[in-house]
Amino acid sequence: MTDGRPRVVVTRVPPGSALERLADDHDLWVWEENVPIPREVLRERTARAQGLYCMLTDTIDAALLDGAPELRAISSMAVGVDNIDLDACTARGIPVGHTPDVLTETTADLAFALLLAAARRLVEGVDYVRAGRWGPWDPSLLLGHEVHGATIGVVGLGRIGRAVARRATGFGMHILYHARSRNPAAEEETGAEFASLEELLRRSDHVVILVPLTDETHHLIGAEELSAMKPTATLVNAARGPVVDPAALFAALRDGQIAAAALDVTDPEPIDPNDPLLSLPNCTIIPHLGSSSVATREAMADLAADNLAAALAGRPMVACANPEVVARR
Ligand code: DGY
Repeated sequence: MTDGRPRVVVTRVPPGSALERLADDHDLWVWEENVPIPREVLRERTARAQGLYCMLTDTIDAALLDGAPELRAISSMAVGVDNIDLDACTARGIPVGHTPDVLTETTADLAFALLLAAARRLVEGVDYVRAGRWGPWDPSLLLGHEVHGATIGVVGLGRIGRAVARRATGFGMHILYHARSRNPAAEEETGAEFASLEELLRRSDHVVILVPLTDETHHLIGAEELSAMKPTATLVNAARGPVVDPAALFAALRDGQIAAAALDVTDPEPIDPNDPLLSLPNCTIIPHLGSSSVATREAMADLAADNLAAALAGRPMVACANPEVVARR
């Protein structure tokens, strides 16, 4: 601590007034470049920090924690914490804040937008017009597949998956879901039907992936899973890139095993501009925009600030990804 205030490292300038929320009571050091903080700078800056406000692009692992012995709280401006070694944080008694709830509806909006875009070939249509190819009305031009009344399969019925299911009810869709355990409240709210992953893939017209990335979900969707899907089906990944095997997806889209895919996330991120997936007209890729509305990103930034401030002041975080750390104290 300098002047009695905890030293806090902020790895990227957050939107809105989050920094102002922290400024008075913390000695802030902010990485101000508009690129992720280099690992070496992060190591150097966290060596004497008590608090860390980070992004999903920062790898927070045991090696970093070992070099930051004074660290008492970590707060990430994201709901997903796959970039953070939670066990290593818990073992050191460090609570990890994250941002659930505030991004649920916005991320579900985007997942549904991707579903509509892929099924109805919106990006191909835009490209077609921009290329000056729009001629007289064509009864067979860019035919897509129905969304209303179709069967949607939601893989991972957490907060965002359930919000996608709610949207699907408005489109009169039949909803299948697969999750680690059944969710009776979500079933009652949306009429969703629990299914094994295999059954969901086989029966769904549109599959939306919304599971967190863990060792178990890495490449959850690979060649075998894609081959179980309908040739008219679309796949949306709004979770984390590595949940889908990109080589298998490329082959499935190229060979017409499935009709289309829309990805908010890739593996790696950013995707290489020469990645073969980008050569496919039936693959829509956007740069991890799930929560990217002004209001939601500001709410995430504020929540991350509040989580950090609370933990450094000895209070419980509003949203903690490893609450057992607090219980153990
Ligand atoms: C998250 O918060 O984990 C999202 O992927 C970013 O919007």
